[in-house]
Amino acid sequence: MTATLSRSATVKEAIETRRSIRKFVQEPIDQADLREILRLATLAPSANNVQTWRVAVIQNPELQAKLQEVSYNQSQVTSAPAVLVVYSDMEDALATIEQTLPASMSEEERKTRAEGFRKNFAGQDVAQRGAWGLAQANIAFAYLMIAARSLGYDTVPMLGFQPDKVKELLGLPEHVQFAGLLPIGKRAEDGFPHHRHNVERIATFY
Ligand SMILES: Cc1cc2nc3c(=O)[nH]c(=O)nc-3n(C[C@H](O)[C@H](O)[C@H](O)COP(=O)(O)O)c2cc1C
Repeated sequence: MTATLSRSATVKEAIETRRSIRKFVQEPIDQADLREILRLATLAPSANNVQTWRVAVIQNPELQAKLQEVSYNQSQVTSAPAVLVVYSDMEDALATIEQTLPASMSEEERKTRAEGFRKNFAGQDVAQRGAWGLAQANIAFAYLMIAARSLGYDTVPMLGFQPDKVKELLGLPEHVQFAGLLPIGKRAEDGFPHHRHNVERIATFY
């Protein structure tokens, strides 16, 4: 395979060599690497440091087969040694916002901040604040892909699945919103060359 990395890639290398990979080498993923990839994703920024992202880590062929069934039978779900189901749980984030505040903060300050934060969202319904929470989780989703690539792993982001069925399979609450599924492993195929808009097409310089 091309694009094998013998060391941690630079961010530029990771971005340039990432491809959506749908066929993976049939070997388990190194658990320390998997944890490191997840740890790197936890360093993603989020508004108010709210960290709405949650990840179901699936390394179970039977469960992956069920997940594939509700993902329009996309074969990468069982080809990969692991599938990360990345979702946002804004209701959990709201209920536990104190956990995101630095330990150095005074008790009074923590209380004021937490109350202020909850008040900001009190006027929104679950779907509205869920959409806001998902915007945060999408950042971590992107971090996961680049972190994985920097450690020599490959991924394919997926939104082609039935959200309600995935919630049912994993026992997730109704209100969570998915950033996507992310099959992860080592590439057994090259993926497609990038073809993208150029900078002039997407950027307006003022
Ligand atoms: C949010 C999102 C959802 C996607 N859903 C799927 C999917 O369900 N199945 C799939 O095979 N690829 C999926 N893709 C992969 C895209 O097809 C791919 O990123 C795009 O064609 C560019 O190719 P590259 O990732 O190799 O650069 C998805 C990508 C993103 C970002």
